[in-house]
Amino acid sequence: MRLRNVNGAEEKIESHPSIVTPNHETHKGSWDKVFGNSNPIHIEIGMGKGQFIRGMALQNPNINFIGVEYYDSVLVRALEKFIVEDIPNVRLLRLDGEHLPTCFAPHELSRIYLNFSDPWPKIRHAKRRLTHERFLTIYRDLLASEGDLWFKTDNRLLFQFSLVSMNNFGMIFEDVSLNLHEEEPTDNIRTEYEQNWSDRGFPIYRVEARFNRKSEK
Ligand SMILES: C[S@@+](CC[C@H](N)C(=O)[O-])C[C@H]1O[C@@H](n2cnc3c(N)ncnc32)[C@H](O)[C@@H]1O
Repeated sequence: MRLRNVNGAEEKIESHPSIVTPNHETHKGSWDKVFGNSNPIHIEIGMGKGQFIRGMALQNPNINFIGVEYYDSVLVRALEKFIVEDIPNVRLLRLDGEHLPTCFAPHELSRIYLNFSDPWPKIRHAKRRLTHERFLTIYRDLLASEGDLWFKTDNRLLFQFSLVSMNNFGMIFEDVSLNLHEEEPTDNIRTEYEQNWSDRGFPIYRVEARFNRKSEK
């Protein structure tokens, strides 16, 4: 999702440091202080306009949620939601997922969500896919031993690629759905893209996976 330049987005983001955390590197290993409690931390990489993270935070007040997004023009749309509605267990980060290790310590996270990640269909761009081995290595280091990775998409080819990538990485699949909305879990929070693709009749795929700590590479 790359929205057209939004006038004043950068200034708006910078003027809400209690929602979009600035100087995130300084909180590495101490996000409990940012939230004022030691509840588990779940992050969504590529949050888009924030519908999912908002819904999850309201549904799970005892979990801290961090939405990560690299475009100001998109992040500002999520920020607007949290300006209107003060939700204490949410923070946003303007960050490329590639740089997560600059602001989270090893094992600091309990869950990572990837929702409708950009598919990067060209083979030469495969390394940019958020389920590429390059990213899985990062996630494994940042997730706690019982932590897991939940990935939803409408894109069959990206889903196939991701299952193979995770399998080659020795991950364990705890649940796989090839049509999540057929019997939609009551606690499923739909993202903007999920709503859109589902309305057009596309099946939604989801995998819940964790790293096999016994066979770490
Ligand atoms: C297709 S949109 C999906 C948005 C939202 N998750 C949803 O399901 O509605 C993908 C989003 O991920 C963001 N994104 C892609 N790669 C990223 C990365 N490496 N780090 C942070 N954000 C990223 C894009 O800017 C875009 O907003």
